[in-house]
Amino acid sequence: MTMKERLDADIAMIEPALSRYLSEEQHAGYDVIFEAVKYSALAGGKRLRPVIALEFCRLCGGDVEQALPFACALEMIHTYSLIHDDLPCMDDDDLRRGRPTNHKVYGEAVAVLAGDALLTRAFEVAGEANGVPAETTLRCIRILGRAAGMNGMIGGQVLDMESEHQKIALDRLMLLQKLKTGCLIHAAAALGCTVAGKTDDKTLSAAETFGNKLGLAFQIQDDLLDIEGDSAVLGKTIGKDEKSEKSTFPLLLGASKCRELVRSLTEEAVFALNGLGSDRFLADLAYSLIGRES
Ligand code: IPE
Ligand code: IPE
Ligand code: MG
Ligand code: MG
Ligand code: MG
Repeated sequence: MTMKERLDADIAMIEPALSRYLSEEQHAGYDVIFEAVKYSALAGGKRLRPVIALEFCRLCGGDVEQALPFACALEMIHTYSLIHDDLPCMDDDDLRRGRPTNHKVYGEAVAVLAGDALLTRAFEVAGEANGVPAETTLRCIRILGRAAGMNGMIGGQVLDMESEHQKIALDRLMLLQKLKTGCLIHAAAALGCTVAGKTDDKTLSAAETFGNKLGLAFQIQDDLLDIEGDSAVLGKTIGKDEKSEKSTFPLLLGASKCRELVRSLTEEAVFALNGLGSDRFLADLAYSLIGRES
């Protein structure tokens, strides 16, 4: 199987599971929240985080079916972060995943609630994982909470907001990106290892290095795409970072240094996989993101 075929096979597991987890309408007058949640969650994101979760589980010899609820929970948290990131009080964006943003369609109040609903449902789904030992589930719930929380993605979003209209130092920008993007990608890797029962220091530290390096490369590429991407391919508005005077890597280091960094960080991420098995999928996936256009 090629990397692309296996990626498609993973996504073919994730999409129906995600749809199932988000389809428990009671038809009692509040259906709009289900509609709003599915509008954003089933809009065809790349599904990078859940794929990494499934593949780390596979690499560590685990059962990917058991990793599926945690992988979907992570994608729900990621989607919630995007809905809130797009709100007028944050990045004020009109386009996401090739569609008008959630608040443009459902209004700000429902969009806030749709984010809240995805975050809440994520923990419910994780708590209900079938056939997974309770201690493993507990570990996974902690990974999700930590990565999404104040010392994770939310902390990063706060730094991102506070760093608008100023040029911040490189170490602060590194921290900002590590928290806002790296933490959820690290969580994906850690969830996969944990479900597979591989929670020794060596494995978890490899997952952490992989997640942090790849997360940083991913966000630098995201910043580059905000400048030089094609909105129709990317499914997001271009030029928003400059307009909002965001602190980004291209602003601090220039585009060509950024491209070098994306490559070297990806190589470092792949290097961290050494010793975790001979499967090339995650390495090939990481390399395929270097020149991504969406
Ligand atoms: C966008 O994430 C936000 C960042 C952390 C850069 P993705 O580029 O993974 O978005 P989707 O899930 O494919 O829409
Ligand atoms: C957002 O970063 C990261 C999140 C935690 C949602 P960006 O604001 O750069 O993401 P995009 O470019 O809107 O997808
Ligand atoms: Mg943002
Ligand atoms: Mg944004
Ligand atoms: Mg961006």
